[in-house]
Amino acid sequence: MCGIVGYIGKRNSQSVLLNGLKKLEYRGYDSAGVAVHTAQGLHICKSKGRISELESRLQDAPLVGSAGIGHTRWATHGKPSDVNSHPHTDIETKISVVHNGIIENHLSLKEELEALGCTFVSETDTEVISHLIARYYEGDLVQAVRRAVARLRGAYAIAVLSEHEPDKLIAVRWASPLIIGVGEDEHFIGSDIPAILEYTRDVYILNDGEMAVLTRDGAELMTLEGNFIARQPFRIEWDLAMAEKDGYEHFMLKEIHEQPRAFRDTLRGRIDSGRQAVVLPELEASGFDPRQVRRIHLVACGTAYHAALVGKAAIERLTRIPVEAEVASEYRYRSPLADEHTLVVAVSQSGETADTLAAMKEARTLGARVIAITNVVGSSAAREADAVLFTMAGPEIAVASTKAYTSQLIALYLLAIYLADRLGTMDPSDSAELLAMLEKLPLQAGETLAGAGLLQELAANIAGCEHLFFIGRGLDYAAALEASLKLKEMSYIHSEAYPAGELKHGSLALIEDGTPVVAVALQDSLLEKTIGNIKEVKARGAYVIGIAPEGDTELAKAADRVVYVPRSHALLSPALAAIPLQLLAYYAALARGNDVDKPRNLAKSVTVE
Ligand code: F6R
Repeated sequence: MCGIVGYIGKRNSQSVLLNGLKKLEYRGYDSAGVAVHTAQGLHICKSKGRISELESRLQDAPLVGSAGIGHTRWATHGKPSDVNSHPHTDIETKISVVHNGIIENHLSLKEELEALGCTFVSETDTEVISHLIARYYEGDLVQAVRRAVARLRGAYAIAVLSEHEPDKLIAVRWASPLIIGVGEDEHFIGSDIPAILEYTRDVYILNDGEMAVLTRDGAELMTLEGNFIARQPFRIEWDLAMAEKDGYEHFMLKEIHEQPRAFRDTLRGRIDSGRQAVVLPELEASGFDPRQVRRIHLVACGTAYHAALVGKAAIERLTRIPVEAEVASEYRYRSPLADEHTLVVAVSQSGETADTLAAMKEARTLGARVIAITNVVGSSAAREADAVLFTMAGPEIAVASTKAYTSQLIALYLLAIYLADRLGTMDPSDSAELLAMLEKLPLQAGETLAGAGLLQELAANIAGCEHLFFIGRGLDYAAALEASLKLKEMSYIHSEAYPAGELKHGSLALIEDGTPVVAVALQDSLLEKTIGNIKEVKARGAYVIGIAPEGDTELAKAADRVVYVPRSHALLSPALAAIPLQLLAYYAALARGNDVDKPRNLAKSVTVE
C-alpha cells in the first residue's frame, strides 16, 4: 500500500510533492512525509496523520530545494507515528528512501545490519533499505541501490534521494506500481498517474525489475542488471478534471452519479447492433478461442469479487460452462484445478491488487489463459494478462468502489454474451433481448439516481442501528453481499448478507424488534419465495426495506418501505440494484459523520498480500 512521489527539476519540489501526495492519499493516509535536498543538505519533514498535518508543518518550516521525495502511508509494519512515517534514512541522514510494498526478509536484514553497528529508529520494514544503500555506497549511488535491492525479498516501489549525489533521483520497481513522468527540465516519480498529471502527460510505466535514474535533464531506464532500456513514453489522454470532484461534496457521490456515463463508455463500440452481437476485438486479437475453454475461474477481491459472483451466474447461465468465482487471496493456496483449457478472468479496478496479481500468476503457471477486466490502462494486471477488457469508468478516487464495480458487471455481461454467441449456446432472440436491455442500462441507471432523496431519508432511519441484514436470493444475494460490504466500510455499522432462505437456519435468532433488514427482490421468478422470507423476519419485529422492480405491488405489501428500480433483465438487475444500495451506504456514513471518501483503516489500492 502507500503512495510515493518524487521530483527533480526547475520548480521548488515541496509544492509538487505535496500536490502529488494529495492525489495519492487514497492509497493510505495514516502518515506522510517528504525529504528535500536543500542548500543545507538533506532535510526531512514527516508527521503522523493526514497530509494536511504535514502541510501545516511545512508551512511553519518550508523546505526549499529542487529535488525531493514524498510518501503517504498505510501502516503495515509499525503503528502510524512520526517516527514510522517515511522517508527513512541511514544513520547519517545522507540517504533517504520512500517505499510502497513489504520487505519480507526485513527481520534477517535488520539483524545483519545491527550486527554491523546500524541503529534502527523505526519499527518499519523500509528502514533496512536506507541502511543497506548506505552500507553499499562507495561513490556510486546507482550501484549502491542496485546492490541493496538485490538483497530484498517481497514487494517494493522505492524512490531514493541522497545528499551524496543530490542531482539524481533513483526509482526501482518490484511488484508495486511505479511510473516516471517526463517534463521539460523536470522529471517525476509517482505510484499512480494522477500524482503527476498536473505537470506532464508523458509517462514511462516501470516493469518489475526495472529502475530509473532521473536528473533534471533526463530519465534513464535500465534493468536491475544495468542494461539500458529504450522505451517511448506513454501519452495519457484523460484529464485531471475527470479525477476532480466536479461540484459534488465527495468523490464517492460524484462517482455514484457517473454510473450512467461509465456504463455507456464501457458498452461503447462493443455491441454490433447490425449483427446483434458483442464484439470484443481485444480478445480476438489475442488469438483467444472460446471453444477451447472447458472451465472458467473468476478471481477478484472485495467488491470486485462480488462482481465476479454476478459474472459467474451470467456466464454459467448463458454458456453452460462451469464457472467458479473465487476470492483471489485464496486461489493459489488451494491447488486450483486449472490447465490450458481453463480461462481465468481477473477482475480488478486498480489492476494492482497484490492478491489478484498473485492469482493471475498462479493461473499462468498452471497453463491457463488469463484475461483481466480492469479500469487502469498500464496497470500490472493489464500487463500480466493475455488479453484485457478495460472498464471505462474513469479514475475512481473514493476508497469505496461504486462506478468501477458496476462497470465490471457490464464488462462481465459483455464477456458472457460474447462467449455464448461464439459457442452457439444462446438462442439468437434471447441474445437480442438481452443486448437490448443491456443498452438500456445507462438510461435506467440515470432514472435510478433520481431516487436519491428517499435513500437519504432511509439512511437517516438506519444510521443509529448497530446491526443490519441484507437478504436476497440468486443474483439478489450477490447484490446483497456487495450492499453489505459497502454499508460496513462506509458507515461502520455491522451488517451481514444472507441468502434469504438461509436465515431460518440460525441467524434469524438475531432479529429483534426494529432490526433493519434490506431485502433485495429483483428476480421475478424468486419474488414469492423472498416475500415468504420477508414475512419471517417481519414476524420477529424487523423493519424491512425492500428493493423492488418498478410496478411491483407484492413486495410493497410485505415491506415497511420500498425503493423501486427500473425493470430490467433478471441477469442485469444487480447493476441497477447497486445504485440505491451505494446511496444508502453513502448517506448512512454521512449521517454518522464519517470520512466518506477515506473510511478508517482502508486504502484504495491494496498492494500487499
Ligand atoms: C470496496 C473496495 C474493495 C476493492 C478491493 C479490490 O469498496 O473497493 O473491496 O474492490 O480491494 O480492489 P481492485 O478492484 O482494485 O482489485
